[in-house]
Amino acid sequence: MIPKSQKMKKTKILMVCLGNICRSPLAEGILASKLDPALFEVDSAGTGNWHVGNPPDKRSIAVGKAHDVHIDHLRGRQFTASDFKAFDRIYVMDSSNLSNVLALRETATSNAAVSMILEVLFPGENVDVPDPYYGGSIDFERVYDMLDQACTLIADELNTSTN
Ligand code: 4NP
Repeated sequence: MIPKSQKMKKTKILMVCLGNICRSPLAEGILASKLDPALFEVDSAGTGNWHVGNPPDKRSIAVGKAHDVHIDHLRGRQFTASDFKAFDRIYVMDSSNLSNVLALRETATSNAAVSMILEVLFPGENVDVPDPYYGGSIDFERVYDMLDQACTLIADELNTSTN
């Protein structure tokens, strides 16, 4: 058995969108696929409550599967103020998610650094990951590509900072 003092505290990362069925479950699956699960924990949540307990949208499941990222086991949950304490980093998909999340932070004890996920690709430009819910499969493919590029940079940085 590993002595308690030698156990590494995992770095916890939360992906947030509106419904927690299209963008953030994909972001969770993509980032998790690039990190060591012994060192990192990745989760996702929505600021809305419509899809609590539901699996991801079938179009997100399909685009993930096409890239060998499997997210069909995930279930929707709503973001809560306690997530600020539970997570080290919170990545939101768009500026409206950012406002909704930050509105809850005022009443919460916070450990988490909050940022828009595309900040790593387009610093200072406030670029949104567009909501593909009312779109078609091409929109889900575009979302996948954006998230994959952002998560590659995030994972590179996390993997070097924990070495
Ligand atoms: P997501 O997309 O925020 O990327 O999960 C949406 C999914 C569902 C709804 C809105 C956005 N909805 O209104 O039900």
